[in-house]
Formats: sequence, structure tokens, C-alpha cells
Amino acid sequence: MESLQRYTLKEVAKQNGTDGNRIWIVLHDMVYDVTDYINKHPGGPELVEEYAGQDATRGFDDFGHSSDAKRLLKTFLIGELADEDKMSCRRKNVSRHNVESSKTRSGRSRFLSILCGKCTT
Ligand code: HEM
Repeated sequence: MESLQRYTLKEVAKQNGTDGNRIWIVLHDMVYDVTDYINKHPGGPELVEEYAGQDATRGFDDFGHSSDAKRLLKTFLIGELADEDKMSCRRKNVSRHNVESSKTRSGRSRFLSILCGKCTT
């Protein structure tokens, strides 16, 4: 199987529909060009537009799309995220960041931020 083109989140961010650029979104570490689909989206264009150039995984999964929707999605696939920007890697970076920034905090707040990560920042 051919390997997919890799993109960084920074490259994806540029494809947000402004300046005549196309609209890309990220879902589960995969990059999709949804420019031609946005106006056909049954949930309305705004819901997808909101994530132009960004990771839409949470929004997509929260709605619980049908398997038809997932099949359709495959037709827009153009690439995959670079390893350093994949979700599992981003999570690691977030927790590392929290531990580092917690050095400036003290006492209970610092303890909680190490324990819970994002929720106390
Ligand atoms: C580009 C990727 C997307 C595709 C291909 C897609 C596809 C679809 C399809 C086919 C439906 C009809 C119901 C179903 O078959 O599940 C649907 C409905 C819906 N989608 Fe998406 N969707 C996408 C992105 C999103 C995103 C990012 C969100 C939320 C932020 C979203 C929210 C919704 C909602 C709320 C509905 C329900 C509309 C209604 O029943 O009134 N979708 N989508």
C-alpha cells in the first residue's frame, strides 16, 4: 500500500478556507480535504467550518456519526499527520508541559496539576 502524505498541524492550519485556500480538517490523525463537502453536510456547513484547519475529532465523535458517514469521510482523505503531531504524541507533550509549568506553582495547585493534567490549568 502506498504511504500517505504527511502533514504537520501547522501546515493543516493554513488550509482553513481563507485566501482562497482549501479547507482541511484532522480526524483521528488523518487529514481530510472537505472543501467540496462542507455545503452538503447534513449537520450544516457551520459545524465543519468551525474546525477548518483544525482537529475536529472531538466534534465528529461526540455526534456519533453513522458508518455511512465514516465511509464517506474516506473519500476526502489526503494524508496523515506527522508523527510528532499525532494525538498520542500531543497528549504526552501536554502532560510534560503541565509538569514543567507546575514548577512555578506551589502547594495544592501544583500537586493537582500533576495529578489531573489539563483540568486544573
Ligand atoms: C467532514 C467530516 C464530516 C462528515 C463526512 C460528516 C458526515 C455527516 C453525515 C453523513 C451526517 C448524517 C448522519 C449520519 O450519517 O451520521 C452528519 C450529520 C451530522 N454531523 Fe457530520 N460530518 C462531518 C463532520 C462533522 C463535524 C466536525 C461535526 C461537529 C462538530 C458534525 C456534526 C454533525 C451533526 C450535529 C449532525 C446531525 C445533523 C442532524 O441530524 O440534524 N459533523 N454528518
